[in-house]
Amino acid sequence: MEHNIWQQKWVIGNWKMNGDLHGNNALVHKLRNFPVADKVCIGISPPTMYLLQVHNAVQIVLNNKIHTCAQDVSRFAGKGAYTGEVSAEMMKDVGVDIVLIGHSERSLYFNEKNDIQRLKIENVLNVGLLPLLCVGESLKEREDGREKEAVAYQLSVLKGLKTKNFAVAYEPVWAIGTGKIATKEQIADMHQFIYEEILSLCGKDVNIRVLYGGSVNDKNAADIFSVPHVDGALVGGASLKYESFAAIISAAQEA
Ligand code: 13P
Repeated sequence: MEHNIWQQKWVIGNWKMNGDLHGNNALVHKLRNFPVADKVCIGISPPTMYLLQVHNAVQIVLNNKIHTCAQDVSRFAGKGAYTGEVSAEMMKDVGVDIVLIGHSERSLYFNEKNDIQRLKIENVLNVGLLPLLCVGESLKEREDGREKEAVAYQLSVLKGLKTKNFAVAYEPVWAIGTGKIATKEQIADMHQFIYEEILSLCGKDVNIRVLYGGSVNDKNAADIFSVPHVDGALVGGASLKYESFAAIISAAQEA
């Protein structure tokens, strides 16, 4: 990677369970032609089925390198009798750079908790890929004033990891897909807290990126990027259309 991604703003599109061969190609083709955004680390996170397609499509670097990101990975390493699973080794084999771990939808629908997330992070690190841990409180936890306690518990999976690179996405569950966005004060407060937690758990000599996620779009991105300790965005719905995703990349470049 020519640029130091730990100094760039990250804009990663989490496509979730969306996309198809034809539409993916069209979107990636347009993104490859996006004007130079050297202050931005751009990533696309398609469904596992399309990782190889996206990776192949981003190989010809025109103006920007685009990173291939996976939405999840198996808790099991290597190969074996685990029907339906895809290992970190396989992700590396097809050219994945970054792997999302612990998205709240994984916890909501698949009951994934800290123990499983820890195994996944270790698998990803062991093959030399970069985990992006997603954390965020529920509406109830926010209403009860327990948002930091909830996030601190989720971050505790990072303790003792053999890495100096920590990428986290703060995604308040109540802001995901709802059009409700956390206030700048709420984001600033939580991002600073996450920085402090990582530093105290993992030592002072670490690289950190903390992305915000939850209803980020072309209208609010510039405002969000102006908040201290916001190192980028993990974008759901607005990453599915070129115009909105491109506008968010521009906002990051200009931040
Ligand atoms: P939306 O941007 O659609 O709210 O999704 C956010 C998200 O969950 C990204 O991982």
